[in-house]
Parts: sequence; C-alpha cells; structure tokens
Amino acid sequence: MRILVTGAAGFIGSHTAEALLRRGDTVVGVDNFDPFYDRALKQRNLDDVGTAGGGRFAFVEGDLCDAAVLDQLWQRGPFDVVVHLAAKAGVRPSIDDPAAYVRANLEATALLLERCRRDGPRRVVFASSSSVYGADSAAPFGEDARCDRPVSPYAATKRAGELLAHTYAHLHGFDLTCLRFFTVYGPRQRPEMAFHKFATLLWRGLAVPQFGDGSSSRDYTYIDDIVAGVLGAVDRPQGFAVFNLGGDREIRLDEVVALLAAALQRPLRIERKPDAPGDVPRTCADLTLARESLGYSPHTTIEEGIGRFAAWFADKGVH
Ligand SMILES: NC(=O)c1ccc[n+]([C@@H]2O[C@H](COP(=O)([O-])OP(=O)(O)OC[C@H]3O[C@@H](n4cnc5c(N)ncnc54)[C@H](O)[C@@H]3O)[C@@H](O)[C@H]2O)c1
Repeated sequence: MRILVTGAAGFIGSHTAEALLRRGDTVVGVDNFDPFYDRALKQRNLDDVGTAGGGRFAFVEGDLCDAAVLDQLWQRGPFDVVVHLAAKAGVRPSIDDPAAYVRANLEATALLLERCRRDGPRRVVFASSSSVYGADSAAPFGEDARCDRPVSPYAATKRAGELLAHTYAHLHGFDLTCLRFFTVYGPRQRPEMAFHKFATLLWRGLAVPQFGDGSSSRDYTYIDDIVAGVLGAVDRPQGFAVFNLGGDREIRLDEVVALLAAALQRPLRIERKPDAPGDVPRTCADLTLARESLGYSPHTTIEEGIGRFAAWFADKGVH
C-alpha cells in the first residue's frame, strides 16, 4: 500500500512509518518540526525511518494547515490510507496556548480530511487520546463512556477531531478509525513526557517531582504495541470506529518511578508536589473492542518496556 503518515518525524509517527516500510508498504511522511521539542531529535527519528525505507520513503517538511504543502503531498499520491498522527501533544502546555492546539490539532485535521474528500483516499486512521475521557469516567474506560467533559484544551481538540471524523464518515462515506492511545512510552518518547523527564532527572541524580501522593495511575502502552494497533487499523477499514489502545495494565506513578530508577541503576529520589491541573487521576483502557475488531493484543509488560526504554535512554536519551 501507499500510505501518508502525518507527524512522521515524531515519536509515534516515526515508529509507525518504520513498521510500514519494514513490511513493504511505501510511505510519504510529513512533519512541520513543531518547536514543541528539539528539531534535532525529530531529525534523528527521520534518519532512522529513511534507513528502514529502502527507497520507499519520501518526506515533505511543512505545515498541514498550508494548502501548498497538501499540494506537494498529493503530488506524491495517490494514497490508499492516511495515518494522521500529527498534532501538538501535551496536556499542560495546551492550557497556556489553546489557540495553537486548535490550529495544529483541529484546523489541520479539517484541512486534511477535506483534501481526502476531494482527492482521496476516503480512508483515514486518526490519533486520538485517552484524555478524551475526562476526569470522571468510570475505569476501565469503554469507548462508549461519556467524553463530553474534557479537562484540558488538548483533550478538547482530540475529542473535536473525533467528532469531525464522524462527520466525514457520515457525509462522505469515509472509513475513519479513531484510536485512543493510552500514555505511550518507549525509545524516542517525547522528552517532556513523564518517563523521559523522570529518566533525565534520575540519571542526573536529581529528585523526581511527584504530583499528588503517587497513587495516580496510568495505563501505559509500549510503542511496539501501539504501532501494532495502528497497523491493525490500517489493514481493517470499518466505517466509523473508535478504539482504545492501551497496555492492559494500570500502574501507579510511584511504582513506575521505582522501576525506572532500578532499570537505570540510579538512586530513587522523590519530591512531592500538589496535583497538577488538567491531569486526570487515573486512566485504564477497556480493550475488548480493539481485540475483537483489530486483533489488538498488547504483549509488552511494564517491566520489559521500561527495561527497553532505559537501555535506549542510556544510549541515546536527552541526559
Ligand atoms: N505519546 C502519547 O502518549 C500519546 C497519547 C495519546 C495520543 N497521542 C497522539 O498521538 C500522536 C503522536 O504523538 P507523539 O507522542 O508521537 O507526538 P510528537 O510530538 O512526537 O509527534 C507529533 C508530530 O506532529 C508534528 N506536527 C504538529 N503539528 C503539525 C502540523 N500542523 N503539520 C505537520 N506536522 C505537525 C510535530 O512536529 C511532531 O513531530 C498525536 O496526535 C498525539 O496527540 C499521543
């Protein structure tokens, strides 16, 4: 297949592009090197994708909100599927700059879907987020749980993206699969994400800030499992659909930090802080639908995943 991957220089995008290339697909990637984190890290991700590409990878640098960039991309088409991973990620920074999140996450999605309507393909996989469940959904979160009370601008843009996706499926017959990722970790993880930030602090012998009493918990998902879920969605068009992609185990924040310190062979030091606004206390995915419809089956334990992340961090992380 010929697949457009947006956000291809990012954490999940680069792994997804690599996996598609490895199995023989042709990939066109796009990314605007959003300054949310260091361009050099994204360039390194892209270099790895290029190496896996065997001549089947092309890259366009540019913003999806720019019609000329979409023109350049579609000159490299036609595409069988668009995997739309580009976004401004991160809950807390979205509180300071909501308009930038609306532009990158919603306006870009609207322009991309419109281009797909005009020139094809009507088949899109969209990266959504567990944050759409808000603070008061009962865990484990099923896809039909209430998600009309987002607690951050980031979450609101992701939910709005899903709603727009539904509109395109309804009006224009798109196959549109929204995947709600639950905190993804692994090599190349964004440097501002908890594991990466904690690893940097532990590596330097500094204390890890712990918001709340450490009992907040997350369903962490190893990158290879997420990529398997994305590929499952690429291969199984099914009208409009929403699926959770989680790691199948909830783990407390304090446990994660202890595992990370052990894997990095660094002393564990914690600095307690009050709860942070916009954070949800708990995430936990109900994976029944993803298992049935996508053949999704996460198999990386948190111990294995943290071990692999720590090995990568020691070698290539931001120290
Ligand atoms: N990492 C997670 O735990 C997680 C959890 C839930 C959802 N998601 C979603 O998964 C997707 C990928 O996340 P990630 O962690 O790989 O983030 P990332 O920041 O590493 O990757 C996103 C990429 O999109 C690019 N981008 C942003 N705006 C763009 C635009 N207007 N035009 C072109 N490129 C643009 C950025 O430069 C970046 O390289 C995002 O949609 C994110 O919201 C991630």
